[in-house]
Amino acid sequence: MKALKKIVALTGAGISAESGIMTFRDSGGLWEKHEVREVASIEGWRKNPQLMLRFYNERRKQLEGVEPNAAHHILAELEKKFDLTVVTQNVDNLHERAGSSKILHLHGELTKARSSTNPEWVVDIGYRPIEWGEKAPDGSPLRPHIVWFGEAVPMMSQAAEAIALADMVLIIGTSLNVYPAAGLVEYAAPQAPIYLVDPNEISYPGREIITIREKATVGMEQLKKILTEC
Ligand code: OAD
Repeated sequence: MKALKKIVALTGAGISAESGIMTFRDSGGLWEKHEVREVASIEGWRKNPQLMLRFYNERRKQLEGVEPNAAHHILAELEKKFDLTVVTQNVDNLHERAGSSKILHLHGELTKARSSTNPEWVVDIGYRPIEWGEKAPDGSPLRPHIVWFGEAVPMMSQAAEAIALADMVLIIGTSLNVYPAAGLVEYAAPQAPIYLVDPNEISYPGREIITIREKATVGMEQLKKILTEC
């Protein structure tokens, strides 16, 4: 039996935009309304953990009310024909809910909490809020299972390995502004074609990238046609 072609889809906030989740850097995006350092950095957590809990509790509550869109569903459907791994910067669970089965969350997951001192101790919390004063079994404050600025990205080596082995890489809805995630593109094999879906111009010098300048739902429909002819 012939091995399935390996595809890695590197996704960002743009793939969830049409589900109603705000991106970070577009106009009207989350980082226009909030100071990144205050709500998404380890210093922010040390300075004002209550504000951080509130911020992620709100985002978790919002997540409960939204649904995966056609772009998430197409990626899940492509598993019928390809060995597809999703490497996502998103902390939502819309890839899971659309049915993708191999997902690496580079920046953590909203529906999980963890110990503040032991990143290995992680618990599913669903959509419920983390209350101020809640503790992990080691006695440290329970915190969102999110990778904040100033912290290591534990999934990086697994993600880099997946991309290095991919026959094709898809990049969907990310401004490629945040490292080390954006640097993953460099791990793609020289012969592996890279497709990028984004309504805005994204530059990534040094690699030839086939760009589909559309929103994720429209662009993924076009990509599906291209891929099913492969
Ligand atoms: P950004 O907000 O930086 O970029 C979102 C991208 O999505 C932009 O390139 C938009 O043009 C594009 N976009 C907007 N609407 C779209 C649509 N309907 N379809 C497709 N694309 C669309 O978000 P990310 O690149 O994901 O990390 O940001 C990376 C990281 O920065 C996040 O994971 C988060 C943030 O700080 C942490 O908080 C740790």
